[in-house]
Amino acid sequence: MVSPHFLLALSSALTLVPARPLSAPAPLPPSEDPWYTAPEGYEDAAPGTILRIRPAADSLVTAIGANVSSIYNILYATTDSFDKPSFAVTTLLIPSKPAGKNGTRLLSYQIPYNTVNLDYSPSYALETQFASAFSDIGPALGRGWFVNIPDFEGPKASFSVSVEAAHATLDSLRAVLAAGQGLQPGSHTRIALWGYSGGSIPSEFAAEIAQLYAPEINLSGTAIGGLVANMTHALEVTNAKSYAGLAPLVTLGLATRYPEVQSYLDKNLKPSGRYNATMFNSAAQMATFDAFGAFVNQSIGDYFMTGNEWLYATDLEAAVKRNWQMGKFVFAPTAPMYVYKAIHDELSPVEDTDVVIQKYCDNGANILYERNTVGTHQDEYVRGNARAWAWLVSVLDESYEEVYDSAGCTIRDVTIDGATTPGGSMMAGVPF
Ligand SMILES: *[C@@H]1O[C@H](CO)[C@@H](O)[C@H](O)[C@H]1NC(C)=O
Ligand SMILES: *[C@@H]1O[C@H](CO)[C@@H](O)[C@H](O)[C@H]1NC(C)=O
Ligand SMILES: *[C@@H]1O[C@H](CO)[C@@H](O)[C@H](O)[C@H]1NC(C)=O
Ligand SMILES: *[C@@H]1O[C@H](CO)[C@@H](O)[C@H](O)[C@H]1NC(C)=O
Ligand SMILES: *[C@@H]1O[C@H](CO)[C@@H](O)[C@H](O)[C@H]1NC(C)=O
Ligand SMILES: *[C@@H]1O[C@H](CO)[C@@H](O)[C@H](O)[C@H]1NC(C)=O
Repeated sequence: MVSPHFLLALSSALTLVPARPLSAPAPLPPSEDPWYTAPEGYEDAAPGTILRIRPAADSLVTAIGANVSSIYNILYATTDSFDKPSFAVTTLLIPSKPAGKNGTRLLSYQIPYNTVNLDYSPSYALETQFASAFSDIGPALGRGWFVNIPDFEGPKASFSVSVEAAHATLDSLRAVLAAGQGLQPGSHTRIALWGYSGGSIPSEFAAEIAQLYAPEINLSGTAIGGLVANMTHALEVTNAKSYAGLAPLVTLGLATRYPEVQSYLDKNLKPSGRYNATMFNSAAQMATFDAFGAFVNQSIGDYFMTGNEWLYATDLEAAVKRNWQMGKFVFAPTAPMYVYKAIHDELSPVEDTDVVIQKYCDNGANILYERNTVGTHQDEYVRGNARAWAWLVSVLDESYEEVYDSAGCTIRDVTIDGATTPGGSMMAGVPF
């Protein structure tokens, strides 16, 4: 039953949308902005229903440049990892000259924001924290594609709660297709997902569960790189190394949605000493690179009375099982995939990705998986960018069958050396 309050809120939200943005001042941070709360009765709205929509800040339109005509923030209904009602925000960028021989094109670009601080959500921080993404977004708009950038971590910034992230990503597609801003409905829009590292999580899980959760969303392809296919293993290999800060970030992310994880932390983090609860919990306010700096080379077990056993605690098991392992929801995704990964990726071992892709391939998926013989996790960010872009162009602009093998799997080692400095890369210069 849809409550009358909800319908009222919804109709006033929609009628207040100007056909073209008039003037939008700089918004407040999400943690302080009432716009980032769900209207009463949102629980009754179907996932993907638009709850609020407003023009994004004028400064963002100016910063993106001539390829964009307008930008909207949309708050929409979705579900959390328990399939309970939730909400999330996405940013929809409208190209100046929408293109597509037949229908429209939509790139859903999942930014690896990797934090438990809501104020780093891309809808708010795109211009300040993630401006390096403009080198992908600008050309995508220039091709006439619409671009969707969901705050897939949701209203509690639940980093690594992957099922919620997948729901938020798929529901953001439903919302933007319904927004009436030029995207053509259903099968008349070709949709591709793209994400690296922390952006591979929502992208992969969304591609994986799309057929179960949103069967009417017809993905044309998914490009994912630097996959964190098994987060537990990633925390094992990063412990006491440069990315040790990943552990507090993702564990605090789980705790935002799993009370038993929170209570485990409350009971087992050491109250004092150099490695204490205050320090561990302070990661919840940090941006990714700040956390990597603060915890560099630390052994995270030192923070726990349980030592290194913390990672295998039974209180973490349910959350970990549901959210930290790719490839367990379906036999194979239905849309083609492009997967790129450095063999020497020091953040998440390549074997974990090999296992997931091999399983999909055994079950009939259509995947091109390129393992780079050189470079680190961060290098592949930059070096994989051009290959991912070319693949996405073929998928969205309908030359895929001519350029790539559209049946079965191709798994190959490549050697792509060269630039690792910012330029044309997704999130260049921003770690992870
Ligand atoms: C264009 O789209 C229409 C309707 O979606 C479809 O019937 C037709 O086959 C498409 N043509 C091409 C060339 O893809
Ligand atoms: C606009 O799109 C064109 C064509 O894709 C691209 O070459 C250019 O770099 C884009 N401009 C900006 C500011 O992103
Ligand atoms: C889904 O997309 C594929 C290729 O993009 C197309 O062949 C198929 O007809 C589409 N199905 C629906 C239900 O729109
Ligand atoms: C993920 O990694 C952990 C830790 O190495 C391991 O125990 C577990 O078996 C792995 N999961 C899968 C599905 O391989
Ligand atoms: C917690 O750790 C921080 C950083 O090591 C330290 O500055 C602080 O004094 C510690 N607090 C307690 C209560 O030990
Ligand atoms: C972390 O450890 C590596 C390898 O031992 C070392 O090269 C680096 O300087 C250390 N970083 C810091 C900030 O201590």
